[in-house]
Amino acid sequence: MIRLFVNVDHVATVREARKTIEPSPLKAALLAEKSGAQGITIHLREDRRHIQDSDVKAIQKAIRTKLNLEMAPTREMVDLALETRPYQVSLVPEKRQEITTEGGLDVCSQENELSLIRERMQGGGILFSLFIDPDLAQVDASQRIGADSVEFNTGKYTELETPEEIEAELERLKIAAKRAAEKGLRVFAGHGLNYDNVKPIAAIPEIEELNIGHFIVGQAIYIGMENAVIEMIRTIKMGRAQKS
Ligand code: PXP
Repeated sequence: MIRLFVNVDHVATVREARKTIEPSPLKAALLAEKSGAQGITIHLREDRRHIQDSDVKAIQKAIRTKLNLEMAPTREMVDLALETRPYQVSLVPEKRQEITTEGGLDVCSQENELSLIRERMQGGGILFSLFIDPDLAQVDASQRIGADSVEFNTGKYTELETPEEIEAELERLKIAAKRAAEKGLRVFAGHGLNYDNVKPIAAIPEIEELNIGHFIVGQAIYIGMENAVIEMIRTIKMGRAQKS
């Protein structure tokens, strides 16, 4: 079974639109857990546009499942992770002007720096994951620096329009997932996934964990967080049953 980690960043986005206390990403996280999510993901961005430091602490303290903290590879974030001790950190590239994470981390060009962060995280008992594009060179570099896992960026796959392009990107994801598993890395995926596009991703046998946020939070507006999560888990299970 694939684990679903629900990303609750955009509950905080709505709260921050008014700089008030509702809606609460913590409450959303607890509802997601109650509905079967195996973990909660949050991205503490350098500009604090949605999740705040206090959310990280409150969510880490209150959830009974696992916290996956997405963060940029900066000294500030590394210190914060060591203070909070989430179950896992996922390093992502971050640009101030972007609306959301735009691509995978370039591991190849910063192996030494990332390796030092990896040492500090694993030394603190925190699993170390890297968000990368489905690119074999990036997979190999992730293994070289000692990552526990890679999360493949499905963003491009979810944005393509023609069946041929989608199929070609899926193939890249399958090949990269196989390579990562062969190298001993655990394999995760996420970005832009919804009820329509998640099944072929869930069908990739090496993938163990999916991080899904924006769509679930959007869907929660119509049908509630619990139903949105339950429906996503059902859809993922249907996809996994069609293993590729
Ligand atoms: N994985 C990573 C590394 C991300 O940065 C995000 C977005 O915060 C997600 C997964 C989830 O993407 P989405 O919100 O589009 O489901």
